[in-house]
Amino acid sequence: MPVERTLSIVKPDGVRRNQIGEVYRRFEGAGLRIVAARMLQLTTSQAELFYEVHRGRPFYGDLVRYMSSGPVVAQVLEGEDAIARNRQIMGATDPKKAVPGTIRADLAESIEANVVHGSDSPETAVREIAFFFSTTELCPRA
Ligand code: CDP
Ligand code: MG
Repeated sequence: MPVERTLSIVKPDGVRRNQIGEVYRRFEGAGLRIVAARMLQLTTSQAELFYEVHRGRPFYGDLVRYMSSGPVVAQVLEGEDAIARNRQIMGATDPKKAVPGTIRADLAESIEANVVHGSDSPETAVREIAFFFSTTELCPRA
């Protein structure tokens, strides 16, 4: 398995409900390393750009409003097969369909307010990591 990096976000509902530590515990417990981290509140235009791929979908406007509604914590996770493994730890987009034990099944309120974002492919991961972090902000392995 290749060592990969992926972009993860604790979304505004997760920050609001004090779930940052619980989410990090799950990443670290699964052996993924946090190699960069940052808290910020997205502007409307940043949220629009981040979710550009969904522009035109019926949920896009609400998604942009929700993602810019409060602070988020963005992190880069590193590990073997990190992109797919993070998606497994997150669970399905709709918490009702997510496997028990996943972040979304256990912690999410709705299909929109679903606690976490995770990159879905190597190409997306490169784009999304660069959206939040410059190369010098990614910590080299000890
Ligand atoms: O986040 P994920 O990659 O699992 O799902 P997505 O299909 O890329 O959708 C991005 C985000 O849009 C989701 O995580 C939800 O917050 C939101 N969404 C929504 O509100 N309603 C939907 N029917 C689908 C997605
Ligand atoms: Mg997605």
